[in-house]
Amino acid sequence: MSERLRIGVLASGRGTNLQALLDGCKSGFIPAEIVVVISDRPNAMALQRARSAGIEAIAIEPSQVGGMAGFEREAVRTLKERQVGLVCLAGFMRVLSASFLKEFPNRVLNIHPSLLPSFPGLEAQRQALEYGVKITGCTVHFVDEQVDHGPIIIQAAVPVREDDTVESLSERILKEEHRIYPEAVRLFATGRLKIIGRRVCILPEGE
Ligand code: GRF
Repeated sequence: MSERLRIGVLASGRGTNLQALLDGCKSGFIPAEIVVVISDRPNAMALQRARSAGIEAIAIEPSQVGGMAGFEREAVRTLKERQVGLVCLAGFMRVLSASFLKEFPNRVLNIHPSLLPSFPGLEAQRQALEYGVKITGCTVHFVDEQVDHGPIIIQAAVPVREDDTVESLSERILKEEHRIYPEAVRLFATGRLKIIGRRVCILPEGE
């Protein structure tokens, strides 16, 4: 039997997507193990969630290690030492460089709260509301060198209601995030994702 996939998560904030992945691994839905959670913010709730789940939680503050290059160096070392085969960004608020990505080719995933390529970048839910779209959603994608840009794995659509605020819309999108991120990681962990150009094909089960 092939070895279980080892996952490292990078998170900056409250970590509800991290929690969805932790729960997915625990229940067996995702046949993989989260072995380390790294944050650029020592007070991130995500680190507490990791500790509560008995998972190693590490803070690396860029300002303490010579900036983002130092953060990436430390993070790569940490992830490699733990033989991580997949890096999941879950509300990680910094942009990773090409030199980080080349250490994990096609092995870094991200979740974004819009239907990409619409509304990349910060405050995607506010952007969608202000633009006036009637449908928005969320996207899990492979990470490449451009922000919120790499090949798309799964998307979920969420209707925008007349009376939506940024908060109410974000909440409705978040529910879908918690559904599709574990699903995408499960597909990765079971070897069912094949990247062809910009397209990600989902292979049938058991191939
Ligand atoms: C989510 O909306 C995610 O799509 C975006 O950042 C937010 C993180 O939320 N990338 P959480 O920390 O997972 O609760």
